[in-house]
Amino acid sequence: MTHSLTFAMIKPDAVAAKYTGPIIDMIEQAGFDIRALKLTTLAINDASLFYRVHKDRPFYTSMCRSIARGPIVAMVLEKENAVVDFRKLIGATDPAEAEVGTIRARFGKSIEANAIHGSDAHETATAEMGHFFPYLELTSFLLRK
Ligand code: CMP
Repeated sequence: MTHSLTFAMIKPDAVAAKYTGPIIDMIEQAGFDIRALKLTTLAINDASLFYRVHKDRPFYTSMCRSIARGPIVAMVLEKENAVVDFRKLIGATDPAEAEVGTIRARFGKSIEANAIHGSDAHETATAEMGHFFPYLELTSFLLRK
């Protein structure tokens, strides 16, 4: 199987709790290579755009506010089967239901403050990477293929 990319975002709750280092350690120990990384803060408009696929959900407004609350760490990760394997590594959306040993089981506080986001499909990953990293920043990876 060829290597592929996925997008990850350490959420404001986890960054504020100083979990960035331990979370990145878990990601690298699980075999992912970090291809791009950025500490930034989302304006509420950016958050609404980022989560627009959820715009009809009852928790949309609260979810956008929580993601715009403070700095986040955005990353592009590379690994064989990256999207699926990263979803396994982060665990279920609700940390209370996440399997022991997953990032959310270890660092998540609630369904909203669940420490980390990971793309759910290749198409979403492409869109989410593009949201944070302009195409040019990713060309070094793409040209290597
Ligand atoms: P994430 O993987 O970032 O994708 C969408 C987010 O919506 C999810 O993590 C949760 O943080 C949030 N979410 C999902 N379900 C709920 C819910 N029932 N109430 C509040 N937030 C939710």
